[in-house]
Order: sequence, then structure tokens, then C-alpha cells
Amino acid sequence: MTEYETILVERHDRTALITLNRPKALNALDLTVMAEVVDAATTLDRDPDVGALVITGSAKAFAAGADIKEMRPNGYMDVYLSDWFSAWDRLGDVRKPTIAAVSGYALGGGCELAMMCDILLAADTAVFGQPEIKLGVIPGIGGSQRLTRAIGKAKAMDLCLTGRTMDADEAERAGLVSRIVPAADLLTEALSTAATIAGMSTPIAMMAKESVNRAFETTLAEGVRFERRLFHATFATADQKEGMAAFTEKRTPSFTHR
Ligand code: CAA
Repeated sequence: MTEYETILVERHDRTALITLNRPKALNALDLTVMAEVVDAATTLDRDPDVGALVITGSAKAFAAGADIKEMRPNGYMDVYLSDWFSAWDRLGDVRKPTIAAVSGYALGGGCELAMMCDILLAADTAVFGQPEIKLGVIPGIGGSQRLTRAIGKAKAMDLCLTGRTMDADEAERAGLVSRIVPAADLLTEALSTAATIAGMSTPIAMMAKESVNRAFETTLAEGVRFERRLFHATFATADQKEGMAAFTEKRTPSFTHR
């Protein structure tokens, strides 16, 4: 497996764990972290033996945002011509289910990275926010869009305009977070959720993900039609035959991910 400078990558059966590893900078997301997370996630996505991915940080910080010191000297032409942050979009193209396991700070780009994942598990210590306004910028990795879709205009405006943070409880009430777990259990819970998903048929999980994500891109009627076509397509898989046979025969299914 590739050696990375700013992240750690581990495999556990059919799941993979990417750990952000810049502790001295609270996992600030510089261009190296961006390139490495995107490279690792897209490589694991192509691996037929991987069914789900977990992205996590440290106990203190999932990620404290994009790297402010790296961004600071740039001018408009630097960020425009290099299309600063655009490589993060490739994470959105990952087709296998992804889980963000968030402990501590998930601010700015850290909150945006967590929101790019399909399931967001928070430790009771998690702190979310889009404090870019305090630096004289606005979110740049989709925060104003994904946060608004996740928690609605009222709270998204509040967070983006004041830069205030919200704790795990508020984030769960607002619908940003799937579940809150005690900090000590976060990784176990995230890996076990990933293992549950990876134990399902991977192509079917990919279709479920694609179908849910379609809800954000289209009308209800088009979305339902899209879902119906994918539902029909599941009948072309060996795993549909196995899943329904196993139910009828009162046994656990043995999916072949085909
Ligand atoms: N970029 C670069 N370095 C960062 C950083 C960041 N986003 N966040 C923390 N660090 C560094 C600090 O500079 C410090 O380094 P030194 O020891 O060399 O001084 C180290 O990490 C530890 O940080 P603190 O001493 O500040 O730790 P703390 O516990 O006192 O505070 C914190 C923690 C409240 C998270 C504070 O670090 C903080 O406010 N960080 C910045 C949060 C932020 O504004 N994030 C948004 C960034 S912009 C962005 O993300 C744009 C976008 O949309 C993509």
C-alpha cells in the first residue's frame, strides 16, 4: 500500500480506515492532506475487496479546517488558476459508502470533509462550525451548500454568518449527525458500522448510496423514477437472488458482491 505523509491507511477485512495524521496542526487540511485523502479514498474505492470506508482524525480534532497558514500568502490569481480545493470534489465521486467518525473539532474544511461523507458519526466531544467568516473568507469546500441542505437555512445562516460552533447534541438535533457515541467508543462504532455495510452486497450498497444522493440533485418525481430503475437493476445481481433465497430458507445470506 502507498506510504503517505499526512494520513494513515489501515484495512480491516472489507473495510478501510483513513486517519488524518497532522496532530501538531490539529489535522489542518493542507494541499498534501487533500491529495493524500483523495488518492487513498479513490484507490480504496476501486478495490473490489473494500465495501466501506471510514475517515477519522484524532481525539482533539477531526480537522480544524483548511490550512490557514498555507492559504494566507495566496492572491486571487493563485487560488483561481490552481482552482484551490477543487481536488476535494473527487471525494464526492467515491461510490462506496463512506463514514466520517468525528471527535473534537470539525471546523471549516473539517466540517466540510465530514459532510462529504455519507454517514456522520460524532463523539460526544465533537464541535462543528464554519468559522471562515472570522478569517475574511467564506466556506470553500461546499460548506454553505451541504450544511444548508443538511440542517436548513436558519441554522446554516447562523453558523456561516456568526462563525459560532455547535456541539454534538445540537448537531444531532439539527440533522447533521447520524448518531452520537461516547468518545471512547467512536472508532469501534464507526468500524462496526462500516463492517455492517461492507457485509451487505457492495454493488447494492453503492446503488442505495447513489439513489439517496440523487435526492439532492433532482425533483421528487425524477428521483423516484431513478430509484425505481435502480431497484429493477438489483434483480440483475446474484446478490438479489442470494438475499431473497436466504430469507426464504431462513439462513444468513452469503453475498458475492456481484
Ligand atoms: N490551519 C493551520 N493551522 C492550524 C489550524 C488551521 N486551520 N487550526 C489549528 N492550527 C494550528 C495552530 O496554529 C497551532 O499551531 P502552533 O502550535 O504552531 O501555533 C496548532 O494547530 C494548535 O492550535 P491552537 O494552539 O490554536 O489550539 P487550541 O486548542 O488553542 O484551539 C482551535 C483550537 C479552536 C480549533 C483553533 O486552533 C482554531 O480556531 N483553529 C482555526 C479554525 C478555523 O478557523 N478553521 C477554518 C479554516 S478556513 C477553511 O477551512 C476554509 C474552507 O472552507 C475550506
